[in-house]
Amino acid sequence: MPESRISLRPHRIGDIGWIIYRHAVLYAEEYGWNEQFEALVAEVAANFLKSHDPARERCWIAEVDGAFAGSIFLVKHPGEEATAKLRLLLVEPHARGMGLGRRLIQECLDFARSAGYAKVSLWTNDVLHAARHLYEEFGFSLVSEEPNALFGPLTIAQTWEKTL
Ligand SMILES: CC(C)(COP(=O)(O)OP(=O)(O)OC[C@H]1O[C@@H](n2cnc3c(N)ncnc32)[C@H](O)[C@@H]1OP(=O)(O)O)[C@@H](O)C(=O)NCCC(=O)NCCS
Repeated sequence: MPESRISLRPHRIGDIGWIIYRHAVLYAEEYGWNEQFEALVAEVAANFLKSHDPARERCWIAEVDGAFAGSIFLVKHPGEEATAKLRLLLVEPHARGMGLGRRLIQECLDFARSAGYAKVSLWTNDVLHAARHLYEEFGFSLVSEEPNALFGPLTIAQTWEKTL
């Protein structure tokens, strides 16, 4: 896809609600996940809106031809001052496979470094194959796994980390 069609920008009014909606609908369609996942996304997103620290926490919206095509967040780890959490990476199906996911992760890691974090951690799932492929490519390592049926189907929740 020509670079001129793609842009990344900060979130603005309405984006966060849209991100919750798209996560809920796409994960239900693609993985059969239930409304508990929607609740988790809504919680993460609402906390970000209510109290994020713009110097150390950020949301990026990817657009293709000016329309929403994906998102990613970097937020503080609640218990570790030097660790950031990468969250809510999503690319719309029509925009996948063209490098947008890589671009969002790269942007997020660049910001994490410039904000002074020493480590980035993320929580994912064994069924999210494309995401795991990208996290490995960016140098994340799997640090723990546990079965999880909170969202309906039984899956393996995973924590991955990368030292910056
Ligand atoms: C993960 C996701 C963001 C990637 O977005 P994207 O824009 O397609 O990413 P890119 O185009 O930069 O790269 C996709 C890579 O995944 C690979 N891929 C796609 N499907 C795959 C699969 N089933 N298994 C392994 N790799 C896969 C592609 O081949 C490509 O890698 P390559 O260039 O080395 O061949 C997107 O697939 C998505 O939104 N998935 C659902 C939500 C999700 O899993 N989010 C992560 C939450 S932790």
